[in-house]
Amino acid sequence: MKNILVTGGCGFIGSNFIRLALESLTDARIINLDKLTYAGNLANLDDLDADLDADLDESQRYKFVLGDICDSELLGKLFAEEQIDTVVHFAAESHVDRSIDGPSEFIQTNILGTFALLEAARKSWVVRDAGRGTRDAENQVEQFRFLHVSTDEVYGSLGDTGLFTETTPYDPRSPYSASKASSDHLVSSYYHTYGLPILMTNCSNNYGPYHFPEKLIPLVINNALNGKELPVYGDGKNVRDWLYVVDHCTAILKVLQKGRIGETYNVGGNSEKQNIEVVQTICDILDEKVEPLTAGQPRRSLIKFVKDRAGHDRRYAIDASKIKDELGWQPSVNFDDGIRMTIDWYLHNPAWIACVLDGSYQEYYQKMYGGR
Ligand SMILES: NC(=O)c1ccc[n+]([C@@H]2O[C@H](COP(=O)([O-])OP(=O)(O)OC[C@H]3O[C@@H](n4cnc5c(N)ncnc54)[C@H](O)[C@@H]3O)[C@@H](O)[C@H]2O)c1
Repeated sequence: MKNILVTGGCGFIGSNFIRLALESLTDARIINLDKLTYAGNLANLDDLDADLDADLDESQRYKFVLGDICDSELLGKLFAEEQIDTVVHFAAESHVDRSIDGPSEFIQTNILGTFALLEAARKSWVVRDAGRGTRDAENQVEQFRFLHVSTDEVYGSLGDTGLFTETTPYDPRSPYSASKASSDHLVSSYYHTYGLPILMTNCSNNYGPYHFPEKLIPLVINNALNGKELPVYGDGKNVRDWLYVVDHCTAILKVLQKGRIGETYNVGGNSEKQNIEVVQTICDILDEKVEPLTAGQPRRSLIKFVKDRAGHDRRYAIDASKIKDELGWQPSVNFDDGIRMTIDWYLHNPAWIACVLDGSYQEYYQKMYGGR
């Protein structure tokens, strides 16, 4: 049985990943280490708890640990007691706007937290490896993996043409992307310096169930449902490559199982959209699915262009041919289907939205958009 430490498993992508991994890796135990920041939500795994409670064997395959990836002592204990042999590292501060407003948490968690995790992994890996009495490459590969989940934002901003490949030079522009770039370099250095069996994924923008409503797609769904303004930065023509979250999770599993140690894989949706197109699509689908706001008022009329984000990257686009050619992964959900599935999920889960939109979220929202 594999013992997988998932960090940040109560966040958007981490919770989707845990659900998928428990289904697909039937010989795995998952230990979910999460600090439960504003973005971490135990309710993201509520359905799982119910499933697991019903089945004792299953419940032994999942464990939640409340804690900080910066806490080296806790990490040391976890690696030893839980016999961790695989790490899938999601935990991060992940919102660009928050990084502009207050970068220090990003430096703390994304850089120092990743460093603490790498150190704990390295120490544990060396001990486990020595215990096996072998250091040959094959066995190391069998025994231990450290998969770091990163973003395409480390590559900077593209013009109208071109795609990010795994060899595109790093050029991060926001404190968020700079902190992720720094963590990527640290992870890579642990492979080159110590031989730690790392893997890395750099993925484009995700969307789907359990997405915290500070990010574009869930924010627009929630506001459009409630007849609130839809803030769109600048001219709305910034382009992102959108990937349905479950596809990101299947890519991570694929890399974990088949990826070449030390390699980076770009993951993308082949689905470039301008922000304004995304917002208009959501408005139109909601007009079709739910009652109009007031007689005949289309939701597009709620769109309000607001002052642009500082240093707003213009375009991201991923060349995902390496993961396709080497590992046979490609996205299974196109944007038209994925956005409908996402909207349906939000329509069917109003209690989840109500629960995350508490007082602190309202304060944050006012601060970010109130004066623009
Ligand atoms: N969301 C995207 O579109 C996207 C795209 C590419 C890559 N990524 C990367 O994927 C990862 C997950 O992104 P997400 O959107 O799910 O983020 P998220 O903000 O929804 O979740 C982050 C999780 O990490 C936890 N966390 C934060 N600091 C922690 C700490 N110090 N110790 C332990 N847990 C901590 C939070 O409580 C939360 O559960 C991040 O590393 C992000 O950079 C995200």
